[in-house]
Amino acid sequence: MGGFARLLHVEASPRGPRSRSSDVARRLIDRIAPGTVETLNLFDAGLPPFDGPVMEGRYALIAGEAVSPDVVAQWEAIRARIDHFLSFDAWLFSVPMWNFGIPYPLKHYVDLITHPGMTFTVGETGVVGLAAGRTAIIVGSGALDIRTDGPMAALDHQMAFMKSWLGFIGVTDIRTVDIRPTYGTADDVENAMRRGYEEADALAAALSRPERV
Ligand SMILES: Cc1cc2nc3c(=O)[nH]c(=O)nc-3n(C[C@H](O)[C@H](O)[C@H](O)COP(=O)(O)O)c2cc1C
Repeated sequence: MGGFARLLHVEASPRGPRSRSSDVARRLIDRIAPGTVETLNLFDAGLPPFDGPVMEGRYALIAGEAVSPDVVAQWEAIRARIDHFLSFDAWLFSVPMWNFGIPYPLKHYVDLITHPGMTFTVGETGVVGLAAGRTAIIVGSGALDIRTDGPMAALDHQMAFMKSWLGFIGVTDIRTVDIRPTYGTADDVENAMRRGYEEADALAAALSRPERV
């Protein structure tokens, strides 16, 4: 079976073994990258604040101004986080919908790792994403059925955001798996999980075909 040499599982649910998005993600991982996955749970990651002083520090560094050792250390840590992210050949994001968008630690992570000259460049031809040439998989869960072909699609600021951000940093191979609706009768939820597993299995099969390589 094909697979990825280095896969990062970015987990955006705090629910651990009870998380529906992580559950389907783990099923996919077993099929596409058994033994080679690294997991980053964003609720446990101890992400540093991204606030006014950190931003001012970056502007000062770009302008070549003197900055405190704290600012240097903060931006070295951000650079290390970006280098870590870019060192993978695929990413799997498991993402519950929270208030129509993504859970705040995932937005925090996106804000920490998305900077000009680090994750993308801006040149005469426009924005060039530095994460190009890899694969991103988004396993999204939600109580509402906001899938693109349904009547609630306009409420989607979760999958749509993730796709826009990944596109911005250069990723063109973006695959999705939906687990929804996870609210309703026991049958509704069971069906959502079953469809999620089926989509995950179909995606694993597609990613494992030799013509991908
Ligand atoms: C704070 C919070 C906000 C939520 N907001 C939404 C929402 O806007 N839309 C939705 O469909 N589900 C929403 N949900 C429900 C979760 O997306 C749903 O339970 C999902 O299956 C959880 O996935 P997980 O088990 O991987 O954490 C919300 C859940 C929480 C905890």
